[in-house]
Amino acid sequence: METPFVFGKLAVDRNFTNRDKERQQLSGNFSGLVNTVLISPRRWGKSSLVQKAAGEAMSEDSDLHFCFLDAFNIRTEEQFYQTLASEVLKISASKLEVLLENAKRFMGTFFPKLSFSPGNQDELSLSLDWKEVKKHPDAILDMAETVATEKGWKLVICIDEFQNISTFENHLAFQKKLRSHWQKHQHVAYCLYGSKRHMLMDVFTSSSMPFYKFGDILFLEKIHQVSWVPFICSRFEDTQKHISESNAALIAELAECHPYYVQQLAQQSWLRTATDCSEEIIHDAYQGIVAQLSLLFQSKTEELTTPQINFMKALLDGVQKFSSKNMMDDYQLGSSANVMRIKRALENKEIIDIQAGNIMVLDPMYKSWLVTCYFRN
Ligand SMILES: Nc1ncnc2c1ncn2[C@@H]1O[C@H](COP(=O)(O)OP(=O)(O)OP(=O)(O)O)[C@@H](O)[C@H]1O
Ligand SMILES: [Mg+2]
Repeated sequence: METPFVFGKLAVDRNFTNRDKERQQLSGNFSGLVNTVLISPRRWGKSSLVQKAAGEAMSEDSDLHFCFLDAFNIRTEEQFYQTLASEVLKISASKLEVLLENAKRFMGTFFPKLSFSPGNQDELSLSLDWKEVKKHPDAILDMAETVATEKGWKLVICIDEFQNISTFENHLAFQKKLRSHWQKHQHVAYCLYGSKRHMLMDVFTSSSMPFYKFGDILFLEKIHQVSWVPFICSRFEDTQKHISESNAALIAELAECHPYYVQQLAQQSWLRTATDCSEEIIHDAYQGIVAQLSLLFQSKTEELTTPQINFMKALLDGVQKFSSKNMMDDYQLGSSANVMRIKRALENKEIIDIQAGNIMVLDPMYKSWLVTCYFRN
């Protein structure tokens, strides 16, 4: 039997819950061609939300088209142009001949060579002199607008893991190029999303940065417990198993409403359940997940410096204000400048998140492992 919960894949159809407000806002932005920046920590549901909202927006507006790019593996400006050009080309035509024709027309002075991986139309590979492209990227940066205008489309370019562009060489100059082209587009909107809040905040909210005031900024939150409870209960019922509301709430609570972990814990509890899911089963499933991840957590912790580990210890002991001299001495954190550096490093590693001065550990299972295994020894 297929299991009723998903994690590590996009949540679609019946596996997608809630987010009504965000969906509405996003699909409104899509069809109004408003640029949107979507930020949340890892695995809170950005990609699932964008896909869902895109699907809904398209079904309501037949002029609307989407192009999805993932910057996850993109390390250089050249690779970015290559991905952008191939993805936009791919949506520009379904017939190969037209696509080749389009490639010649849209790429300005460049003469691209195209090839497909055997048996896979989706794997389009464009050969160009990308070093030359980097010097004159205009045609490629404007290609989406060219396609949209020609076809009378409204086109939304969605770029996942957008924070990666700030690791490119000369990324400020690159951002300037993007912005100066994209802001002139009349038929194209951009939806840029990713994790690493403070890096993205730098890109989109500092007045000195090229992407300042580029569009609507949305901070995705976790999904609330009140939404998880009916979702978990109904997924159990659908498969002829039962869980009480209070036990469904326990799952959400133990996973701290973290979307990925709620689904994983629900899944592990469901697998252990014959007919009726008990509290004991849930705790057992929870321990199972922490144990399963412990090797990963071990190596993640080994990558931390001693002051960073000391900081985590203090945080898990309940310290929130890191300014007192005694506390800094107790936990051997050095100076307050050092504490700032530690926070920044842990934020960059996506271990903690700081919002309105409030520090939280992002991964609830890691937190549990640190408390019950690592610091206990
Ligand atoms: N609306 C939702 N309803 C139910 N489960 C969800 C929802 N959104 C996300 N999830 C759960 O969280 C997991 C991660 O979702 P998704 O990949 O969309 O997040 P993400 O923020 O894009 O993650 P990453 O930062 O790794 O790219 C999904 O596999 C699913 O288990
Ligand atoms: Mg994602």
